[in-house]
Amino acid sequence: GRVGLITLNRPQALNALNNQLMRELMDALEAFDKDDDIGAMVITGNEKAFAAGADVKEMAVKTTLQMMDTDHVAVFGRIRTIQKPVIAAVSGWALGGGCEVVLSCDMIIASDSAKFGQPEINLGVIPGAGGTQRLVRAVGKALAMEMILNNRALTAQEALHYGLVNRVVPVGDYLNVAILLADEIAVRAPLAVRAAKRMINHSSESFLADGLAEEKQVFYNLFASEDRKEGMQAFVEKRKPEWTGK
Ligand code: CAA
Repeated sequence: GRVGLITLNRPQALNALNNQLMRELMDALEAFDKDDDIGAMVITGNEKAFAAGADVKEMAVKTTLQMMDTDHVAVFGRIRTIQKPVIAAVSGWALGGGCEVVLSCDMIIASDSAKFGQPEINLGVIPGAGGTQRLVRAVGKALAMEMILNNRALTAQEALHYGLVNRVVPVGDYLNVAILLADEIAVRAPLAVRAAKRMINHSSESFLADGLAEEKQVFYNLFASEDRKEGMQAFVEKRKPEWTGK
């Protein structure tokens, strides 16, 4: 019908968001946004993972300068320019950049196996694509602190309880429920739907631009630290990191 469906498809890496995948995701969203036959979009992954975060193997070799020169996380910001509603249909892992993509969507349908988290602290960095800003708005400061400072992941039921997701449904149904919701919205008055989305986002994003710019800078700066190199190298080598505070 009038729903554009996008499936993240790098199952061998739990849909880790490398540059190519992010570019293709944004190109697809922007193409649907321009298409008059489409009224709403759904982004999904597979049952095991929506996305386990930015691609750590791609980032592990980067310096601060390279991260800043290429503006590594800028591609995530393109979701904010999409005018039509975007629904995330999430099952399994939604971690790091994956959780940040979900937080940038307008509504979230979760399967009962969904898990939401910001594990960047394990890599010696912080969320760099909106996590520190949007999570506070989504679940409140106390829980956001625990999730980002201490890698607390939320189960689907917890995410529902704290208002992060719209609905939790059995794993066999989450995609259909998301598509049905998108289908209902897609036939509503297009101009009013877009205006409503813009204004609702405005209410929560008024001070967001400053926060996002600052967050990105701090994220890039951390790439200069020994701990960041150690954290990412340890992930690649499948061992525990040894922190030195340098
Ligand atoms: N980047 C690159 N590869 C990843 C990945 C990631 N974020 N997450 C998983 N993979 C890969 C694994 O390396 C593994 O590949 P190989 O078989 O080639 O080794 C494959 O996907 C399957 O993963 P696991 O064997 O680790 O699966 P598991 O079930 O044992 O564990 C997991 C699942 C707990 C999600 C674990 O994979 C994990 O901790 N992943 C990393 C999560 C993470 O740190 N995300 C944050 C990234 S930083 C970020 O997103 C920054 C930002 O704000 C933009």
